[in-house]
Amino acid sequence: MTASKMPLSLERFFMCLPDHFNVEYVINPWMEGNIGKADPAKAMDQWAMLHQLISDRAQVELIKSAPGLPDMVFTANAGLILGQDVILSHFAHPERQAEEPLFRKWFEDHGYKVINVPDGIFFEGAGDALFDGSGSRLWAAYGNRTSLFSHPFLADTFNIEVVSLRLVDPRFYHLDTCFLPLPDGAVAWYPGAFDTRSNRIIESLVPENMRINVGEDDAPRFSANAVVAGDVVIMNCASEKLSRAIRNHGLKVEVVDFSEFIKAGGSAKCLTLRLDQPAAEYRTGASQVVSRVAQIEGQLIDSALLSMICDTVADSGGAFHVRDMRLGNKRYEHSSVMMDVAAPGEAELDAIMQSIIKLGARLPSGEVVDARLAPAPRDGVAPENFYSTTIYPTQVRAAAKWLEVVDQRMDGIILVKDGAAKCLLIRDLAKGDLVVTGGDGIRAVAPMAHRWTDGGFEFMTSAVSSERRVEGAVEKVAWEMNRIKRRGGRIVVVAGPVVIHTGGAEGMAWLAATGYISALLGGNAIAAHDVEQAIFGTSLGVDIKTGQVTQGGHRNHLAAINRVRLAGSIREAVGSGIITSGLFRELVLRDIPFSLAGSIRDDGPLPETQMDLIKAQSDYSRLIKGADMILALSTMLHSIGVGNMTPSGVKFVCVDINPAVAPKLLDRGSLESIGVVTDAGLFMALLVAKLKEMEG
Ligand code: ARG
Repeated sequence: MTASKMPLSLERFFMCLPDHFNVEYVINPWMEGNIGKADPAKAMDQWAMLHQLISDRAQVELIKSAPGLPDMVFTANAGLILGQDVILSHFAHPERQAEEPLFRKWFEDHGYKVINVPDGIFFEGAGDALFDGSGSRLWAAYGNRTSLFSHPFLADTFNIEVVSLRLVDPRFYHLDTCFLPLPDGAVAWYPGAFDTRSNRIIESLVPENMRINVGEDDAPRFSANAVVAGDVVIMNCASEKLSRAIRNHGLKVEVVDFSEFIKAGGSAKCLTLRLDQPAAEYRTGASQVVSRVAQIEGQLIDSALLSMICDTVADSGGAFHVRDMRLGNKRYEHSSVMMDVAAPGEAELDAIMQSIIKLGARLPSGEVVDARLAPAPRDGVAPENFYSTTIYPTQVRAAAKWLEVVDQRMDGIILVKDGAAKCLLIRDLAKGDLVVTGGDGIRAVAPMAHRWTDGGFEFMTSAVSSERRVEGAVEKVAWEMNRIKRRGGRIVVVAGPVVIHTGGAEGMAWLAATGYISALLGGNAIAAHDVEQAIFGTSLGVDIKTGQVTQGGHRNHLAAINRVRLAGSIREAVGSGIITSGLFRELVLRDIPFSLAGSIRDDGPLPETQMDLIKAQSDYSRLIKGADMILALSTMLHSIGVGNMTPSGVKFVCVDINPAVAPKLLDRGSLESIGVVTDAGLFMALLVAKLKEMEG
């Protein structure tokens, strides 16, 4: 080293000679297909280049490499240093865990105080935790290698503010692959590697003139994996735009080829660890990470419930850590799992707890507290953080008592008033009403934790049968309908106009006449089609018997509506003999209630059509009260509308030729529905034939 190149600063870096480096296993996507493919001589040259550039500006200390530990060159992952303290890494992959004792020894021999992360928690050092330029903040990643549970520990140990950032793209599995803090406080990062919340947080903490965007052109070429030594930034590559942005922050860009190390998923920054991390004098230890214990019981294994809960936690940006697990070993034997659930903030934890409570998770009995209540800020508005309901039976705890929520439905809120709990729509709240918020003091029946059959068919399995024989589905539905009728139960039919249009009017009329329909829900069109057919024998102008199209056919439709409007109502049109056949005649004659909900595309409308949709919704919900089965035929909008109001335990059958409809219902939480993908007219014909057979 010549005198002119003597390091001016006291910067010190830690590196490891790559003489045992290669790709020998796959623990990140870059390593795939690269086993044994790194060129040792080339790797050595690339590393030497980096070593030289750093040595020109700082001191470099080396650790002896070890055979069998090909990734030891990536010293960024040895630990996280602040002053003379080092938090030693605990690697997520067993392949790298054997590096831990070697790094520990080196740190101990060099006067560092080695601190271990708590048992069972993964932490991958400066690969996943980066100090910002001022040294008063630590950016820490989770979601891939490093556990969110380590963040509060980092904050406490180093008495520093820890900002938790979630990595979501497996290519950017360490924070230093996509996030580069510069000494002046600027941050260069690739937003695509993070979730929305993390990007928002970075933007809220880094002023606009200090943000550098690493784009799609740079990010996958490891541009953000750069090491800052003195006044240079050493990186694998940099677009003109990125170099310029970095130069604007007073630094020079040095590009070095790291092709051999990229085969292992690392580049410049990974190959170094800063040994003299300067710390800001005034720091405050703080991590926003919070956690709670959740308990889950039921048929966790064969119902896939446990994996659903774990996925929900992880996909919502949280983390879980199983504390205790007791597995049942027979089909109907319950399992029980106790886990810590962590989230990067209180609001995030509440949201996660709410989602898993809906799947049946609860706070352990020792930790149960009352539900948190907050007043509605004005009429028809819920307080922030309200708990939104599902179709499953739910209880909330108020004044140390569990209250059963009445009028359970999905997408409602829970009102606690006069010692009772009630499910309500947001719009029905009055200012000051106390609404359940957060995730405490709520428990719900796990939808899948308890398989049941009530002696009938198992309707819980949310099957969509399309390729299976429609006859099979019809048989099952007919059997159930017949059983409900015999015990005086209620079947509510939701139907779209297609049912009539495809020739199902007669069948529907028969169902109504024989006591299979307790209420009918639909829109303007099903009634208009039915009435048109009764008056003109056509449906939208198509002759229902011959299939012939009548000239000016749509006129029939309007004329039928017009006649009913003249009569005053469908009821009166039946009474005065204008409507002499069809479904609606039967409904009127037998006093079977119906509700027609209007829509923007309605012709007419018919006098009974309710164009005030809030009124229509409450009519619907009144008519489905006490239903044992809902038979939804060919109407996506009304089926989903009804699904929204239906509590669990009601058998929901959805028949639609469009295979997207039933899954849509399932997605919206009507987990107990079964779907039959077929033509509604055909289904009706088969169903009626089957029921006639059963009636004898
Ligand atoms: N093959 C190594 C691993 O997957 C590469 C580590 C890169 N280090 C880093 N700080 N990004 O662990």
